[in-house]
Amino acid sequence: MKPILVSGIQPTGKLHLGNYLGALKNFVELQNSNKYSSYFFIADYHSLTETFDQKEKSGQILDIMINFLAAGLDPKKSVIFLQSAIPAHAELCWILNTITPFGELRRMTQFKDKTQVIFEYLDIKHKNERGYSDEVSDELAIELATNVGLFDYPVLMAADILLYDAAFVPVGEDQLQHLELTRTLARKFNSKFSKTFIEPKPLLTEVPRLMSLDDPTKKMSKSRPQGCLFLDNSPTEIKAKIQNATTDSGKEIKYDETHKPGISNLLLIYSSLNNESIKSIEKKFIGKGYGDFKKSLAEVIIKALEPFQKNKKELSKNLNSVKKIIEIGNKKALEITGKKIIQIKEKIGLIW
Ligand code: AMP
Ligand code: TRP
Repeated sequence: MKPILVSGIQPTGKLHLGNYLGALKNFVELQNSNKYSSYFFIADYHSLTETFDQKEKSGQILDIMINFLAAGLDPKKSVIFLQSAIPAHAELCWILNTITPFGELRRMTQFKDKTQVIFEYLDIKHKNERGYSDEVSDELAIELATNVGLFDYPVLMAADILLYDAAFVPVGEDQLQHLELTRTLARKFNSKFSKTFIEPKPLLTEVPRLMSLDDPTKKMSKSRPQGCLFLDNSPTEIKAKIQNATTDSGKEIKYDETHKPGISNLLLIYSSLNNESIKSIEKKFIGKGYGDFKKSLAEVIIKALEPFQKNKKELSKNLNSVKKIIEIGNKKALEITGKKIIQIKEKIGLIW
């Protein structure tokens, strides 16, 4: 039997180049390597932890599915499904909740970052109107503005993975801490109730943390759209964004994360999309300036995204077939998880 591989992406808006180079491109390569039994899903339950408009949600779900298929995920080779259609994810999440220490979740950096963002958006005046003093208001504001789902997010993610007996999880670097928690929970459950789960390992790409175009000290992230290159950007937009990308002092095209974070980030994009080593790209641009390099990089991106964008257009015309593919994937995932959740309940003594 091949080792199992599981990963998901949240339907929360447009995908950017960080999602692609850190995750989606890798999903396709791993699928096509034929070395794994692959499961890829749309993490719609996770996406409910952020503010959303219910009229947009199903469109966002279909858009992620179209992105999956346009990038090359193939329902003949992988099981592609919707998280919320598989009840065992939420069931196992609940069971794992009961062995998860509160303190572990409090330490999660994604939780801290996300609540910090919420806090920054909180209207100070509004807080003051409610009469909170400034010393206690930080913690209190976070507690008031944060939903429990955001706090519990990593436990649902652990359930997503452990349910499938996944040995490998391809993700970007920002998910490593969640994966570590997943391993901890697997170990804890196994020692308490006997061996039930596999401890999964992450699979990172060469670009596990793509930085923003406008500020190479910050991660490219949906929460800072000004620094994102989106997979749907037109050639004109791509040229403009790359032309305006922040570069460093000096004029050499050389990989040096510490002294040249801007150029280094752009070199990573070039290398990953053109399947060319950084050394070879540096050599190609000896004696040339940032302008020449950026022009060439924009062409590389446009060329790399062209087939993907074309596929997306085609798939968008045929939404019924996209929905059908999700239904088929859901059926397969239901079958597998239905068996596993029974085993889990037996181990705990809920079924006899
Ligand atoms: P999300 O959109 O948060 O569901 O993320 C989808 C996938 O993209 C996850 O595996 C993330 O770790 C990955 N990812 C998000 N941002 C970046 C980035 N800037 N660089 C590399 N990978 C990323
Ligand atoms: N938390 C992941 C992200 O934000 C998405 C996700 C949910 C996931 N469940 C997962 C990724 C299970 C891998 C495996 O990117």
